[in-house]
Amino acid sequence: MALQLGDIAPDFTAETTEGPISFHQWIGDSWAVLFSHPKDFTPVCTTELGETARLKPEFDKRNVKIIGLSVDPADSHRAWAGDIKETQGYALNFPVIADPDRTVANLYGMIHPKADDTLTVRSVFVISPDKKIRLILTYPASAGRNFAEILRVIDSLQLTDKYKVATPVNWKPGDDVIIVPSIPDDEAKKLFPQGWKTLKPYLRVVKQPR
Ligand code: BEZ
Repeated sequence: MALQLGDIAPDFTAETTEGPISFHQWIGDSWAVLFSHPKDFTPVCTTELGETARLKPEFDKRNVKIIGLSVDPADSHRAWAGDIKETQGYALNFPVIADPDRTVANLYGMIHPKADDTLTVRSVFVISPDKKIRLILTYPASAGRNFAEILRVIDSLQLTDKYKVATPVNWKPGDDVIIVPSIPDDEAKKLFPQGWKTLKPYLRVVKQPR
């Protein structure tokens, strides 16, 4: 069965551009983003890896480790890294998994045979420190992802874990948030002593906690 939110992210060992890793051990006490791209030396992937390298300090700030993957070998990843730096202005600053035998791709369902029977699609898995899968995204090979959106969802997930709030449509950090419906008003009074605005009994808007 396909992986679902709340599942434990499958553990594996693999070769990467930064040497061998054991995935759960590599995650440690951090959050993690595991993302696949279809192939090295391809245009959209080149832009995505450059952008992810540019955003690395933002992932670091949130205690998130990032790791890429494709079915190419590590030598190919390393050779391609020069093109990423040259064309995107940012050198690879996170590991990329070499998965030529597709072990990890198959574990995570990253190959969608009706799209392409050998290459990985653009998958994203956000994993929390307890190793649970908290977000799954799947994009086609032709559409580059928006990594700022991935950071935005991580901000939302981390807020939910810390403060029992949910984030409304198009939320950006600093915007008002919503008290999760499972918290009754009595408990909400303790959590949000500054009060909130009740638009409907199930729609309680509160300033974003810090
Ligand atoms: C790309 O990264 O540009 C790409 C890879 C596979 C298929 C289509 C585009």
